[in-house]
Amino acid sequence: MKNIVIIGSTGSIGTSAIEVVKEFPDKFRIIGLSAKTQLEKLRVQGETFRVPFLAVETKESAVWLRSQLSYPAEILVGDEGLVELAQLKEGDVVLIGIAGIKGLIPAYYALKAGKRVALANKESIVSAGELLKEIAREHGGEIIPVDSEHSALFQLLRCDEKKYVKKLILTASGGPFLTWDPKDFDKITPDLALKHPTWQMGPRITIDSATLINKGLEIIEAKILFDFPLEAIEVIIHPQSVVHSLVELEDGTILAHLSLPDMRLPISYALNYPERNTLSLNTLDLTAIGSLNFQKVDWEKFPCLRLAYEVARLGPPYPLILEASDEALVEAFLERKISFREISYYIEKTLNEFKFFTKPEKDLNSYLTLHQEVKTFTKQLIEREKLCGFTS
Ligand SMILES: NC(=O)c1ccc[n+]([C@@H]2O[C@H](COP(=O)([O-])OP(=O)(O)OC[C@H]3O[C@@H](n4cnc5c(N)ncnc54)[C@H](OP(=O)(O)O)[C@@H]3O)[C@@H](O)[C@H]2O)c1
Repeated sequence: MKNIVIIGSTGSIGTSAIEVVKEFPDKFRIIGLSAKTQLEKLRVQGETFRVPFLAVETKESAVWLRSQLSYPAEILVGDEGLVELAQLKEGDVVLIGIAGIKGLIPAYYALKAGKRVALANKESIVSAGELLKEIAREHGGEIIPVDSEHSALFQLLRCDEKKYVKKLILTASGGPFLTWDPKDFDKITPDLALKHPTWQMGPRITIDSATLINKGLEIIEAKILFDFPLEAIEVIIHPQSVVHSLVELEDGTILAHLSLPDMRLPISYALNYPERNTLSLNTLDLTAIGSLNFQKVDWEKFPCLRLAYEVARLGPPYPLILEASDEALVEAFLERKISFREISYYIEKTLNEFKFFTKPEKDLNSYLTLHQEVKTFTKQLIEREKLCGFTS
């Protein structure tokens, strides 16, 4: 029996993780959950599994939850609550399903406590991957990727042929605007950008998939997780999202990972690794799909992807600056303060103009502080330019 902690249990990843656990009551026990705004959903999850530890963001949320719960759970609050949840003595696997840089805090402390971290939160690995890997090495923690492409690579690289691997190939669905003429990008609204063709996900990653910066973040994630040079990582467009990643070997052989586009699969794999669970999902029927398509990425059409590739080449702290700026810009786009096109414009401007004095090193707070500074810088940039009536 494995004791599971789910950080961000009310989101898309968290909800899928709950479904996985529900299927295997004799293998997994949930001992901790966390949420921010969806308190009623957290209450129901807590009651269903009689979860002993629940974490929320504020004291007010804790008071409400306490008043509604029918069993005696311990309610933890704020960042300290996330740290406590991540380090519960009984915890075996900590799934980081929070969106945003906040995920870095529980990921860091879980690894510091020597836990297995099932890592969905890509913001933390992109911004502070070296820190997370080092803390894992020092304390015996382990990172199992949950992002579907990286779970696929993790599985492909387990084969005996690792020494022959020449190239990692990530697939990208291309998002909802793959076939759009860039001249029409001015017509893109948050509602249109939130309609992903193949995946149901939270708002940040859905917008990131529409700009394709998500694939850029994934290139950085793959580089850090698997220690591969940037030149050996490629992206191709594959609109069906059935092939999640491929590895090319020295002799030209390509190994591919195929599955239904359903996050329960990589989540289940990360929770149970190295064993596999038999989930009650439909199996992938290739004859029903008929054909799988692949095409080259149009780097000009999706400038966010090009910018992410550039920061991957530059190395730390530029990936953090890009990621933090994007976090601020996705919020601004969803609040209709900037247009879709302006996301790449302001990222580039932030990368060019933000001044940092020292790289963060071995210290969680310096990463979080720099991230906050970049977010503030980008928000002020938007305000300044909008005040002058500027549009890109
Ligand atoms: N969704 C996917 O298929 C997918 C695939 C690959 C990777 N990922 C990565 O997984 C992470 C989660 O994605 P998602 O799509 O599941 O996001 P989501 O649906 O927006 O869910 C985010 C979760 O984090 C909680 N949360 C957000 N901000 C918080 C904060 N400041 N403090 C505490 N809790 C907070 C939310 O709580 P409330 O809802 O209660 O406010 C919710 O439970 C992201 O890093 C994403 O890039 C997701």
